[in-house]
Amino acid sequence: MLTIALSKGRILDQTLPLLEKAGISISKSELESRKLILDTNLNDVKVIVIRASDVPVFVQHGAADFGIAGKDVLLEHGANGIFELLDLNISKCRLMVASKKDQDLNKSTLKVATKYVKSAKEYFYRQGKQVEVIKLYGAMELAPIVGLSDCIVDLVDTGNTLKANNLVPIALIQKISSRLIVNSAAFNTKHKEIKLWIQKIKQNL
Ligand code: ATP
Ligand code: PRP
Ligand code: MG
Repeated sequence: MLTIALSKGRILDQTLPLLEKAGISISKSELESRKLILDTNLNDVKVIVIRASDVPVFVQHGAADFGIAGKDVLLEHGANGIFELLDLNISKCRLMVASKKDQDLNKSTLKVATKYVKSAKEYFYRQGKQVEVIKLYGAMELAPIVGLSDCIVDLVDTGNTLKANNLVPIALIQKISSRLIVNSAAFNTKHKEIKLWIQKIKQNL
């Protein structure tokens, strides 16, 4: 039995065609059901659809053999018990620092609002800047507008969300795309099976 962990939301839409091409398909009724473990066309392959940030947790603990998650999420989670094997080149965006256009960013301690606490701390540490990080779970763009922070660290794709909130990109921290990750123990015990699926997915990228 093989269990695959997928992120719900935008990654799922782009992942399903990749799996389909590799020979794993999930029916519409299965996807539209409220079930959390979905059957596929293959008896020995199941799919769990969970929140993006939970994917590495399930994979690390072996509750899923492999999974697909954004590099942003993987950087926050850390690599413990996980092998990152393939860049799927989907859900591409950039992890960036952004602020109001006229913001003074040379203060001695910058207030940074973000969901990406680890990446933000590491970035500003490398820059030699002292920061106070305020953890949010969404709508980061609001923080500088209401005076909660001096800047944000968030994902940027088209830039529309920044623009709509009168913010400007300041610096690129990391290019982001979705990665195929594997539980390190499963990679040894189910090596042949997992290798085969990775090969099939890779062939069709
Ligand atoms: P949740 O809603 O559970 O908090 P989320 O907001 O991280 O999760 P999504 O918005 O579906 O969920 O994002 C999932 C992944 O897709 C992110 O981890 C990132 O890798 C990528 N992503 C997020 N926003 C964008 C975007 N605007 N453009 C392209 N890729 C994105
Ligand atoms: C993501 C991200 C930005 C936005 C960037 O939010 O957190 O707010 O997309 O994309 P853009 O540059 O194309 O505007 P998302 O739409 O996922 O909303 P949520 O995670 O806050 O629900
Ligand atoms: Mg989102």
